[in-house]
Amino acid sequence: MTEAVWPRHIAVIMDGNGRWAKTRKLARTRGHAEGVESVRTVTRTCARQKIDQLTLYAFSEENWKRPKREVAVLMRLLRRFLVGERDEIMENNIRLASVGRIHRLPDDVRRELEITRELSANNDGMVLNLALSYGGRQEIVDAVQRIAQRVLAGEFDPEDIDEDTITAHLYQPDMPPPDLLIRTAGEMRVSNFLLWQISYTELHVTPTCWPEFREEHLEAAVAEYNRRVRKFGGLVKKSAPR
Ligand code: FPP
Repeated sequence: MTEAVWPRHIAVIMDGNGRWAKTRKLARTRGHAEGVESVRTVTRTCARQKIDQLTLYAFSEENWKRPKREVAVLMRLLRRFLVGERDEIMENNIRLASVGRIHRLPDDVRRELEITRELSANNDGMVLNLALSYGGRQEIVDAVQRIAQRVLAGEFDPEDIDEDTITAHLYQPDMPPPDLLIRTAGEMRVSNFLLWQISYTELHVTPTCWPEFREEHLEAAVAEYNRRVRKFGGLVKKSAPR
């Protein structure tokens, strides 16, 4: 694996926490708690491999529909992670960022997110990007609203709107598009994740549930990525996946 080229940006749909717990006759929330260990492992490995960005789908806009107790547990795990991993984030030169409707998060979570974000703002290693209260369609809606406001304010004409205009109004305009999207637990769908950004992203779906996802699974995904030929709709074949 040492010769494998690591993608610049890896995005992950961390699925299967509930199924992992169910097969062990445990509460679903135990699956989420165990999933935090996978988040730690994958973050550490990606930082060590010096990839530019890791984006994790930690909580979707649709996840608010889950039972109150489950949402509360997820928020508690998230807050604990943001506090407990602060030293590790700093030691690994990681910059924490987020995408999503962050204003919907509980105050205490938002506060810890802001503290870790500010503390790590000058780190120039990997960006750990958490998608929180995130939906791809909602992101596009939010972008379109801001563009419409600027058109109304006379800042530009509708005919000047192009792909760059949309990208510039997303939650994180400078985010490079993911090169590789990993989905755990086997479902063949993208579940409203980074819809604008993944138009040419390579997909890797593994049957492994997120709580069991470890370095070897990540390496298998990267190895498969290395076997892909990326053409971006054209004919010119790039010899290296990057
Ligand atoms: C999907 O599993 C997973 C989630 C909805 C949440 C992911 C959250 C974590 C891994 C922990 C907290 C995150 C961080 C960054 C500290 P599911 O419940 O939909 O699984 P199922 O489809 O098997 O029911």
